[in-house]
Amino acid sequence: MKGIILAGGSGTRLHPLTKVTSKQLLPIYDKPMIYYPLNTLLRAGIRDILIIVAPERSGDFLNLLGSGKEFGARFTYEIQDKPEGLAQALLIGEQFIAGDKCALILGDNIYTDDFTAAISNFEKGAKVFAKKVPDPERFGVIEMDENGKVISMEEKPEHPKSFYAQTGFYLYDEKACRLAKSLRPSERGELEIVDLNNIYLANGELQAEVLKGEWIDAGTFESLHQASVIVREHELGMKDGRSNLEVKIKRPLSSKKESLI
Ligand code: DAU
Repeated sequence: MKGIILAGGSGTRLHPLTKVTSKQLLPIYDKPMIYYPLNTLLRAGIRDILIIVAPERSGDFLNLLGSGKEFGARFTYEIQDKPEGLAQALLIGEQFIAGDKCALILGDNIYTDDFTAAISNFEKGAKVFAKKVPDPERFGVIEMDENGKVISMEEKPEHPKSFYAQTGFYLYDEKACRLAKSLRPSERGELEIVDLNNIYLANGELQAEVLKGEWIDAGTFESLHQASVIVREHELGMKDGRSNLEVKIKRPLSSKKESLI
């Protein structure tokens, strides 16, 4: 499976922090933010990774991450000229995906879960990962029945039908690029990931899994701060031998103990 990290966008919600740098390069405790979604992919065994960046920041990402050799992986870079929506990643990434399945992760989403099993069990359709949140109106909202079957999905609804947010990690089968081409921009001018997921839902091919671990969308001042606090707690716990979350970035797969980075 191929991996894509979407790390473009203008980061205006975090001005002035993002006036001269990209949101995904801001520090989360002791690492740049993008290290965390990157390691989520590496930890799950994905080695071929496309990093989509905004034009003004492309050099910084390249300087930071390089070819991927240091991480035991291969990185490819593409520019997203304008932030025209998350689903545009599948259009920009079409050549890179080259008819494979892909895992798309947002560059500002931090997970403690290990997705190795979810990826190796994934066969067809699309899969989203849900998390209960107190403020679902800020997210894509997933309505599920008592068996976890998805009933509906809406982007930032005024009246959310559940407390489950769709988080920023998605698995897609080989149809995703073709389906993304049929999307039209929403009222806010973006190709919405929810619209793509709704096509899979209408075809009876959308699955959802509720996350067990922690999840943070680090896109606001509050959640950015919270992310550093949570990562620091994990790392300190790790030094005390209390956490099961330790990975050295150069050997992300071998250790049983895994960390967020
Ligand atoms: O974090 C999960 C949420 O992410 C989901 O619940 C929503 O359904 C989904 O639409 C998205 O909502 P956000 O409001 O968080 O999306 P945002 O515009 O902040 O973009 C998320 C990340 O993707 C951010 O790091 C910037 C990057 N991005 C965004 C857009 C629109 C791009 O690289 N290119 C883009 O065109």
